[in-house]
Amino acid sequence: MLVAPSILSADFGNLERDIKAICEAGCDLVHVDVMDGHFVPNLTIGPVVVEPVAKASSKPLDIHLMVENNNFFVDLFAPLKPKYLSFHLESEKHPHRLIQKIRSLGISPAITLNPHTKVEDIEYLLADLDMVLLMSVNPGFGGQKFIPSVIERVIKLKELINRRNPNCLIEVDGGVSDKNIKELKDAGVDIVVAGSFVFGSSDYKKAIDSLKV
Ligand code: DX5
Ligand code: ZN
Repeated sequence: MLVAPSILSADFGNLERDIKAICEAGCDLVHVDVMDGHFVPNLTIGPVVVEPVAKASSKPLDIHLMVENNNFFVDLFAPLKPKYLSFHLESEKHPHRLIQKIRSLGISPAITLNPHTKVEDIEYLLADLDMVLLMSVNPGFGGQKFIPSVIERVIKLKELINRRNPNCLIEVDGGVSDKNIKELKDAGVDIVVAGSFVFGSSDYKKAIDSLKV
């Protein structure tokens, strides 16, 4: 299991310190939540903040866009060269076109689904995707309760991935902890995002290691 701590739960007054600490503690990716105050009822950070995050990080960035105007935000963050750039299916009229655009910028395209969205809706996009992010909470805030139906959705998605593009990874985001990690692994998850579980612990390495099942 790869582990991507979400910096939404970091101390924004000491961001550089916290980024370095999770990298030294052995995380695999650094998850960055970008919220526009329209698609979700919260507002976070733009490139002015994500640029120093990228500089402080020795691990690749995994940028999760929770925005209405995806094209605009892809242009804004592409120069920071994240490993993954994901956008929500629910806010995009032309997902196939946007996936091609992200790939043409040299970034791995990923798509995110809200807890209610059917995994079958992306069946014909899987061939062009490097990762699918399934939300296990409603997007917008850290520290929410894990929605257990994501497990069934991971199993369904895995079947589609095996048929359409076995190289596509599955990431789960929201309410992940050492309590549900085994279930997520058994269902077929490749990467977990964990915000409050990692940053709320007194020992980042111990927390990250407990998710590396
Ligand atoms: C929620 C964000 C998550 C969030 C996860 O909209 O996408 O990345 O920070 O936080 P936890 O792990 O606390 O649920
Ligand atoms: Zn996220």
